[in-house]
Amino acid sequence: MIRAGILTGGGDSPGINAAIRSVVRFGYKHGVETIGFREGWLGPMEDLTKPLEVKDVSGILHIGGTILGSSRTNPFNIEGGVEKIMGTLKRNAIDFLVAIGGDDTLGVAHRLAEHGVNAVGIPQTIDNDIAMTDYAIGYSSALDVITEALDRLHTTAFSHHRVLILEVMGRNAGWLSLMGGIAGGADVILIPEQEFDIEEVHRKILHRQARKKHFSIIIVAEGAMPKGLDGQVLAEAEVDSFGHVRLGGVGQYIANQLSKMMEIPVRVTNLAYLQRGGSPSPFDRILATRFGAAAIEFALQKKFDVMTAIQGTKIAAVSLEEALRESRPVDPGLFYLIDLFE
Ligand code: F6P
Repeated sequence: MIRAGILTGGGDSPGINAAIRSVVRFGYKHGVETIGFREGWLGPMEDLTKPLEVKDVSGILHIGGTILGSSRTNPFNIEGGVEKIMGTLKRNAIDFLVAIGGDDTLGVAHRLAEHGVNAVGIPQTIDNDIAMTDYAIGYSSALDVITEALDRLHTTAFSHHRVLILEVMGRNAGWLSLMGGIAGGADVILIPEQEFDIEEVHRKILHRQARKKHFSIIIVAEGAMPKGLDGQVLAEAEVDSFGHVRLGGVGQYIANQLSKMMEIPVRVTNLAYLQRGGSPSPFDRILATRFGAAAIEFALQKKFDVMTAIQGTKIAAVSLEEALRESRPVDPGLFYLIDLFE
């Protein structure tokens, strides 16, 4: 029997369990038994395992989060972390490791591959900012939540003649804000890839008022940068073990500025973790199922240090090195969508 280890790291998103289920079931069909490691990279460091037989992944397809738990542990930042992982993999006779996560989690998989670990990555992040793949698991489900939130904000903004701001995640990428804004009909869309001018936001609202639209909806990515402010708005300046600050608060910043410029009430909703929780969309369930099976297929073909990717409708194995070289911001060719109807 071939033995696979599997772990899920970083911020969770809907669809991870569908990928775990697929790895376990498709693996079983092809003579691979799977062992789960709990809490991201902490699991293989501390030998925290969870049995993953076919019966253990029954009934999880539609459930959000991850049955393995997650963490932002970076073994390369912990004294002896890598050696501990190597020891655990040996003790558990792991032939290859499947890592599900965003750039940080996959980055560790890639660095471990350089240490001789047979690693296959599966991209998962609502931010959708991983290169070489059109989609990461979780993005579609988060877009569903954002779209519904915008629909709901519309009815109350209309009734009260208000400016309502929705702040969404995405780190340094504007996929959630741009595509969520298009799907939910936001009047102003702000993304990290383009610095914004608050005067311009104000002008757009006045332009709507001149057209007898007495409410406006703004969607803003947590990483969007207001002109005149030195960088992004931070919820917490302290960095995590991968060197990331916690973004948050740009929605409130905009509300404070706009309130000084106009009479009409401005309110903020930060969608925060609501956009990351709950059940996966059909798209994410299908993507995760395809990625899980592909991870097993690649491992059986001895393709390691690769990531499962979707390019158009096709699943591909892309090198982790290439996928992680740079993150994937919104393509400038899509910026025209921001002002499509102005
Ligand atoms: O990378 C996924 C993500 O959800 C980002 O959109 C967000 O900035 C970050 O994680 C939040 O991190 P945490 O879960 O550590 O608060």
